[in-house]
Amino acid sequence: MSPESISPILQQGRHGSNAGQPLTRRDGVLKVTGRATYAADNHPRGMLYAVTAVSTIARGRVTSLDVAAAKAHPGVVEVITPANRPPLSHNPAEKMPPFGFRVEVLQDDTVRYVNQPIALVVAETLEAATEGAALLNPRYETAPARTGRDNGDRYAPPAIGVGSPPRTAYGDIEAGMASATRVTTAEYSTPAQYHNAMEPHAVVAEWDGDRVTLDMPNQALALSAGAYAKYFGIPPENVLIRSPFLGGGFGSKAILNGPQILGILAARMLQRPVKLALTRAQMYGPVGHRGATWQTLRIGTEDDGRITALHHHSLSATSSFDDFIEPAANSSLPLYASPALLAEHEGLRLDTGTPGPMRAPGEASGSAALEVAIDEAAQACGMDPLAFRLANYAETEPGTNKPFSSKALRECYDQGASRFGWSTRPLEPRQMRDENGLLVGWGMGTAVFHCPHFPAEARATLRADGTALVETGGADMGQGAWTALAQIAAEALGLDPDQVELHSGISNLPDGGIAGGSGHTASAGLALHNAGEDAIAQLSELATSDEASPLYGAGNVGVVARHGRLHRRDDETRSESYADILARARRREIVGTAKANRSPDVAEGHALLSHGAVFAEVKVDPDLGQMRVSRLVGAFAAGRVINPRLVQSQYFGGMIWGISFALQEEAITDRRTGRIMNADLAEYHVPVNADVPSLEAILVPEQDDIVNVLGVKGVGEIGVTGTVGAIANAVWHATGVRVRRFPIKIEDLL
Ligand code: MOS
Repeated sequence: MSPESISPILQQGRHGSNAGQPLTRRDGVLKVTGRATYAADNHPRGMLYAVTAVSTIARGRVTSLDVAAAKAHPGVVEVITPANRPPLSHNPAEKMPPFGFRVEVLQDDTVRYVNQPIALVVAETLEAATEGAALLNPRYETAPARTGRDNGDRYAPPAIGVGSPPRTAYGDIEAGMASATRVTTAEYSTPAQYHNAMEPHAVVAEWDGDRVTLDMPNQALALSAGAYAKYFGIPPENVLIRSPFLGGGFGSKAILNGPQILGILAARMLQRPVKLALTRAQMYGPVGHRGATWQTLRIGTEDDGRITALHHHSLSATSSFDDFIEPAANSSLPLYASPALLAEHEGLRLDTGTPGPMRAPGEASGSAALEVAIDEAAQACGMDPLAFRLANYAETEPGTNKPFSSKALRECYDQGASRFGWSTRPLEPRQMRDENGLLVGWGMGTAVFHCPHFPAEARATLRADGTALVETGGADMGQGAWTALAQIAAEALGLDPDQVELHSGISNLPDGGIAGGSGHTASAGLALHNAGEDAIAQLSELATSDEASPLYGAGNVGVVARHGRLHRRDDETRSESYADILARARRREIVGTAKANRSPDVAEGHALLSHGAVFAEVKVDPDLGQMRVSRLVGAFAAGRVINPRLVQSQYFGGMIWGISFALQEEAITDRRTGRIMNADLAEYHVPVNADVPSLEAILVPEQDDIVNVLGVKGVGEIGVTGTVGAIANAVWHATGVRVRRFPIKIEDLL
């Protein structure tokens, strides 16, 4: 891709530096040439292979395992079951906040879901371990599986997501409904979905006394090191996690899971390095998923289309033994102005693995329902869906009345609609056909995502040759963090990005926080920015207090860092290179360090959100019901853009996930056994290139002076929000059939 093809805005960096430029990814060549090593590529000397034997029932008890047969198999070294599993220092039935869920690590013979580990076989080869696991021949005492809404147990969850309240109310919802001219009510359902990262959850664990080195894909290095330390009763600094590359994380590699803990435990028990990598099927259970939801929306409107009350209830499926509740209804809180808002959640206990964060947790499922409900409300009012949304545009955060730190959603609507050609859309459905007689429909959805900040630390070292090393223990799971973070550091250091070496992806670096919640660039980036400024401040002190420097005495007017030189702010012709300043001071290096936190005033005083508008065109075969997305235009405003190429790529990824959510993805459970029947990439449908149409992502300029000094929000997950609803609404517009169950299927249209 040439820089010219990055549409349409290339923002200038603040100081004319390279931040804002569409640099290509630093890890790109390593990846395409196969030199990037993933966890399971590691083979320490003497390594053993561990394979989990997993349950084939959803609920009950393991009554027997033929351990003798497995142990007798050539190459098998050990079989670990609840009978001989060494103790752990942390009770796995206790959660470890914020992301530590209860895990199954052979603590007992209870089976809670299909694919739960019930034994671990360790052998000299992968084949021997796999064969040994097959010889265990488990017997079960089986209880009926709770597999769906009709046989699961409903309950009131104490919290949703990673600790939010289950119910949020503003204003009087029933009074709002009573004052409406009409109320549209409908229920929407979303299925269980699985992350299906290309790279499996894997670990290569090697102990040295009470220290352990873990090669594993990980989105939250420091947090995980601390959690593993608790499980194994060692200090956090004794855990070294190396996670240079992730083949996709999507939230599932931000949480701890049973199989990886078992791999580490086996390595300690046997005093040899152990590798454990899950199979694709084994990832349908113990490593999280997006839980199914059944969402009811009630929207009261006046004749002019204004919303008087918005009520969103979500019944969210979770496991029988833990409480991750998809915070879907909260999607209805920040978007549309309404005097009364109510978001509430109920839990549904099923015999399934515990769900967890998955790419826009809450917003993906919640906005899918909300944006279709909004389309239905607009239809009921006889209004164009964009005009309806503009009539309900929130100038301040609904309910709280807090100002937005920035909000260029109106510009997103304008630019997206104009690029798409929305103004010529007929109001009624089934009005458009293409040259082949296919029904054509246009739909839209609003995209929104919150902007978290994770406390982060970084170090920036200016070296004698004038280049820099910057370090923060974050993770690049494909989003381009290495590149964007280096651009931020280079800007703060007044260097070209080529002069900045970035170290990341290992847990003994300053804690870079979590690569998740679309907050990594803003969080780790801010730490790097601050560390760079600290280094430059130290360098300025050296120069301005040295009589031999052309910058001597410039302390009051200040200096600016640019192109590897400090310049007097009031007279830029007076300058000195970093290398010269360091050489004269006889310094090999200057080390800047910093932490980055968000001030409570920022978070408490403002609504911090990225926004967008997505417009979709679908074509539907009128006889066969076959659907194709033929065009997608998204316009997003997420504060300052550090690297337009990477940001555009993130939006594309999200929009493609939206296609997947709307039309393809679904884990299908066998109601008799609780088994997932499509636990593989042949039957679990995700888009391939042929499913993805022309995509456009417009980077709408948005200046945010409040969210953080960089003005950066987040771009990772917003693309999936809005897109799902836009596609569903386009299907309605093409066919006149309103489908409220995702994914939309051919049979729904016939
Ligand atoms: Mo995410 S669910 O923070 O990849």
